[in-house]
Amino acid sequence: MMEAGKSHTFFIHTFGCQMNQADSGIIAALLQAEGYLPAENEAEAGIILLNTCAVRENAVDRIEHCLQHLKGLKKREKGLMVGVVGCIPQYRKEEMFSLYPAIDFLAGPDTYRTLPSLLEQVRSGGKLASLEFNAQETYEGVEPLRQGAISAFVPVMRGCNNRCAYCVVPFTRGRERSQPFSSVILEVRKLVASGYREITLLGQNVNSYCDTEEGYNFALLLDAVSQEAPLARIRFTTSHPKDISEALVRVIANRPNICNHIHLPVQSGSSRMLDLMNRGHRIEEYREKISMIRSLIPDAALSTDIIAGFCGEQEADHQASLELLSDIRFDSAYMFFYSTRQGTVAAKTLADDVPEAVKKRRLQEIIDVQNRISGELFQGAIGSVIEVLAESESRRSCEQLMGRSAGNRAVVFDRADYKPGDLLNVAITGATSATLIGRPAHHDTRA
Ligand code: SAH
Ligand code: SF4
Ligand code: F3S
Repeated sequence: MMEAGKSHTFFIHTFGCQMNQADSGIIAALLQAEGYLPAENEAEAGIILLNTCAVRENAVDRIEHCLQHLKGLKKREKGLMVGVVGCIPQYRKEEMFSLYPAIDFLAGPDTYRTLPSLLEQVRSGGKLASLEFNAQETYEGVEPLRQGAISAFVPVMRGCNNRCAYCVVPFTRGRERSQPFSSVILEVRKLVASGYREITLLGQNVNSYCDTEEGYNFALLLDAVSQEAPLARIRFTTSHPKDISEALVRVIANRPNICNHIHLPVQSGSSRMLDLMNRGHRIEEYREKISMIRSLIPDAALSTDIIAGFCGEQEADHQASLELLSDIRFDSAYMFFYSTRQGTVAAKTLADDVPEAVKKRRLQEIIDVQNRISGELFQGAIGSVIEVLAESESRRSCEQLMGRSAGNRAVVFDRADYKPGDLLNVAITGATSATLIGRPAHHDTRA
């Protein structure tokens, strides 16, 4: 038997992207408002939620592993409720119940407001799913339960109207919708009042943000947010190359507190592949956007996503991807091999014809090129002074803090009198391919 109260405590395991992390905060707030309590860890919780990601097969494998463990836990602990929420159930629907008997309930990204009543129904017996799309749902008015007191995510738009051939996100997240401008500003004001030092605006395609009633596009929104929170760093992700406008880049260039970092997924260096992927632009246009960004923001840090071994990829297409990486010299990249997703255009119309071993070999070549470039860029930073927002104690030593540069590089530095939340200049004295090392150079630059 569970002790009293435990049946109303919950613990959320979060997988996937930053939007899922933000959603877990929304779920926690919605449950708390109905009298549920967040547990410190899984063992203290009577309700365990997995907030899941469906973007690649290995993301799904991780959930399976977790559900296997929860199945054992449920045998030992009668009354424990297990829910799977987020992108996997939205995509796999009720078949989840037969695949994984440990699951008691399912909810999708648009139905989190129904979770409290869903839980009550499940408690009185049966398995339930709440998986309707709701293209109006932005969770306006829900104040999320946040992790930490330094950085905060603010989802400003949700969903995706693109149809990239490989991607399941439009099927898991539904149609695009934007948070009203005034409601974003209200949230930012609250974050400023609570002392947050970094605000990241989120959206699957954040630069298609559009509030037609108040007349704001993403460039105007970003400008307004940065003015509302002048002492905080402002970031945003993810941008689609076709929607990066010069007006937006000018806002980033002009506003000192917007980080000069743009994450701009390219997916492939070959126009032929971009066409098969249905990305809506050629590689030349991508290169032009990068030139435009670099001419307006010379020190812009650029990062990207790239997929190896998509349907029909030839050796020449792969070489084009390697060449692109060498030419652009991204600060960092998220690199994947293609994983076919049921229901997508690619799964329905293209053959997944690159053998697994070739996909993996190409991915490794991509990783090798990118690691070399990141290493060179990081080595090149030795001797410079970089503005860093301290985030936490370093994992290796309590004498050191870990923070990030505006370009999102991890920086580990001697603590001195600084604490997490401080913005300071760090003199860079060393580097690995993933971390810069240094010591404080001046006093806090903006606080
Ligand atoms: N909305 C964002 C990110 C979507 S998912 C964007 O448009 O850029 C994050 C990344 O996962 C994608 O950019 C892509 O590189 C990768 N990805 C998506 N589907 C994939 C698949 N089926 N196989 C391998 N990688 C995939
Ligand atoms: Fe997926 Fe493309 Fe939409 Fe990004 S833009 S979420 S890759 S469909
Ligand atoms: Fe994954 Fe869903 Fe995000 S599929 S990447 S958690 S939008």
